[in-house]
Amino acid sequence: MIDGTGDAGLGSDSTGTDGAFPDILTFVEDELSFATSHYNDSYLDRRVSSRMRRTQCETYEAYFKKLRTNPDEQEALLEALSINVTGFFRNPDVWSGIRTILRRLSENTGTVRIWSAACADGREPYSLSMLAHDDPKIDESSVTVLGTDISTPALETARKGVYEESRTVDLDEQLTFLDDYHRYVDVDDRTFRISDEIKQNVRFRRHDLINDDPKSGFDLVVCRNLFIYIDNAYKESMLKTIARSLRSDGYLVIGKAETIPPTLKSAFTVCEARLRIYQRDGKVDHAGWPDHHSNP
Ligand SMILES: C[S@@+](CC[C@H](N)C(=O)[O-])C[C@H]1O[C@@H](n2cnc3c(N)ncnc32)[C@H](O)[C@@H]1O
Repeated sequence: MIDGTGDAGLGSDSTGTDGAFPDILTFVEDELSFATSHYNDSYLDRRVSSRMRRTQCETYEAYFKKLRTNPDEQEALLEALSINVTGFFRNPDVWSGIRTILRRLSENTGTVRIWSAACADGREPYSLSMLAHDDPKIDESSVTVLGTDISTPALETARKGVYEESRTVDLDEQLTFLDDYHRYVDVDDRTFRISDEIKQNVRFRRHDLINDDPKSGFDLVVCRNLFIYIDNAYKESMLKTIARSLRSDGYLVIGKAETIPPTLKSAFTVCEARLRIYQRDGKVDHAGWPDHHSNP
């Protein structure tokens, strides 16, 4: 079932699917309390297949047997299913677009309220705060950033604001979006510590974009690189939560590989299509939308 690209062929009998894939998902949902139903099948299949390769299981059935009886493998699969890849100033061209928005908001608004939704370990909200401090056209004292995520361990790292460089993670390169990031980050060998000055504009809270209530009054919501993993029906409910949380004409930035579903296109106008920057259309009344808790 595992093809040359390393991806398993879900449901493709020609590649030997043995029908145990849905059983694996039910087990993960019921016994390991991970909401597989929120994620799209191809994402789940890739993660399960990757564990199958690591454990030399040739069929879903063989892997299911291992998973049921092996607590270490249960933990490893949960770890593989957590999507926590992030970075400082990820996709630098998008950050140039964010800079333009922050300048505009800083000029026109007394306070600039930003929500970094699904912020993982905090590098995205800290990038927002660093950008506000670094750009002379942005008044950093007016900027507040709320970072939220569903993952409590990710938020613990975020609150500490301490990151370790590794063989695969080049923090120095990520931070070179700024001319001199050393003003905002103390570097000691391979440890990168966010300064108190940058931290003071940023708060962290746990928030589940599928099940928790919308927020309100944000000037900018940055929610990137989550929707690609999410089942379409839930993606729509997440975007409704976000739209409700934005003030009229507030900005939304999503991931470069992500799109707004056709049913929600009327709620946003496009600012920069290539950078996936939108503005909440104040004319659209969301009162008629179904309650955000009425998920499929
Ligand atoms: C790939 S990271 C994206 C991090 C950051 N936005 C970026 O682009 O670098 C996706 C994050 O979404 C979080 N997440 C997954 N499901 C979520 C949900 N229902 N509500 C809020 N966050 C969620 C994960 O814990 C993870 O930290």
